[in-house]
Amino acid sequence: MTETMDQIYSSWANRLRNNQGIRSLMEDLGKVTGHPDEILLGGGNPAKIPEAEALFQETFSRVAKHPTLRSLLGDYQAPTGNDSFREIAAEFLSLHLDANLKKENIAFFNGSQNAYSFLLNLHSGPMANGSFKKILLPVVPEYIGYADQTITEDVFIAYPPKVVVTGKHRFRYELNENTFDLKEVGVLALSRPTNPTGNVLPLSDLEWMEEQTIPKRIPILIDLAYGNPFPNLIGNGKPIFYREGRTLSLSFSKIGLPGVRFGIVVSNEDTIETLSSFAAVNNLAVGNLGLFMMEHLFENEILPNLSNNILRPFYEKKRDLALALFTTAFEKLGVDYEIHDPMGGFFLWIRFPSLSVSNHELYHLCKDKSLFIVSGHYFFPGLNSDFSHTKECIRLTYCRKEEELARGAEILAEIVASHQANSK
Ligand SMILES: Cc1ncc(COP(=O)(O)O)c(C=O)c1O
Repeated sequence: MTETMDQIYSSWANRLRNNQGIRSLMEDLGKVTGHPDEILLGGGNPAKIPEAEALFQETFSRVAKHPTLRSLLGDYQAPTGNDSFREIAAEFLSLHLDANLKKENIAFFNGSQNAYSFLLNLHSGPMANGSFKKILLPVVPEYIGYADQTITEDVFIAYPPKVVVTGKHRFRYELNENTFDLKEVGVLALSRPTNPTGNVLPLSDLEWMEEQTIPKRIPILIDLAYGNPFPNLIGNGKPIFYREGRTLSLSFSKIGLPGVRFGIVVSNEDTIETLSSFAAVNNLAVGNLGLFMMEHLFENEILPNLSNNILRPFYEKKRDLALALFTTAFEKLGVDYEIHDPMGGFFLWIRFPSLSVSNHELYHLCKDKSLFIVSGHYFFPGLNSDFSHTKECIRLTYCRKEEELARGAEILAEIVASHQANSK
């Protein structure tokens, strides 16, 4: 950093300028040229599923033809959405989150990333009472997009998870109760299913944590971007419901609408009120398109059917296909590998224990061959102890076409095979 940069940028700006995680991932997505050689297993785009696309196109055309189109284009919403939309969401979500929600429990944002930039700052850093609070990520690896969202530096805390072998070439991360510590903690954050691993935290673990957080009035932020009620990619996991002490975040992105930029937060009235102040200052208002589409999708109960009968079967089939393709490619070339149990979401998290280069170097070697993956080292914000997985793991999406996954598997296997501790 030059002196001039220090002079003209705040320390937060400099931290963001140095952020290589979410930025490089999203820039990789944006730089796609469409060249047939590109193999895009990096970003978090949902798959293009014709039945889902047809449903969304129909919804979009209805909205476009509706007499309220003028309002969609020409009016601001209230910062977190007008009351009529909040009432529609409260009614729909009460049914699907087993709670008696009112409009005061609902706030809308321009994507859940936007909601988290407020939620994480709401509960961490210097507090109004003079204390300093941190964000505990109870099980890492955890979503890359949380890191650097806080204005205050070094507020994440994480400890190595338990690593449980679940089968040949299979493992799973679990909550480590022995290191769980709420000292200085203002909030907990977890995604379920977890991006990047596809883990689905058992409800018993959530309830165990709540026995300790509720008496201390420490909220738990639960990111349901891939979870229930939509897109509901939770495999055999039980759904999460709304309860006091939980702040739930839902998104339209992974059902297939990332371009609409629409997220919903469900929480207690006070948190929603506070979020409204953040939204007014930072966004003025939530965008209209997501709300107008939501009205049609919720009032006609379209999303449960879409999630359970179209999205879930599609992603489960893709997961099995990806597992078969990568396993075959790895076995053929003698790659030393372990895959996290893919219990939900749409990513594979793969560990290469004998890799002789770092996962970050592996990312570059793959990129040189037009194969895009994500290096796993970004997914451990707040972890300061040694944990070999931070350097040995990668994430890849299985949303792509079979032929692309197959070529990706071959290239990855070849590169890893020639960069293993035992390679000739
Ligand atoms: C776990 C998780 N949370 C939040 C987001 C942000 O999603 P959006 O802002 O599109 O709702 C993503 C996107 O990949 C994600 O994977």
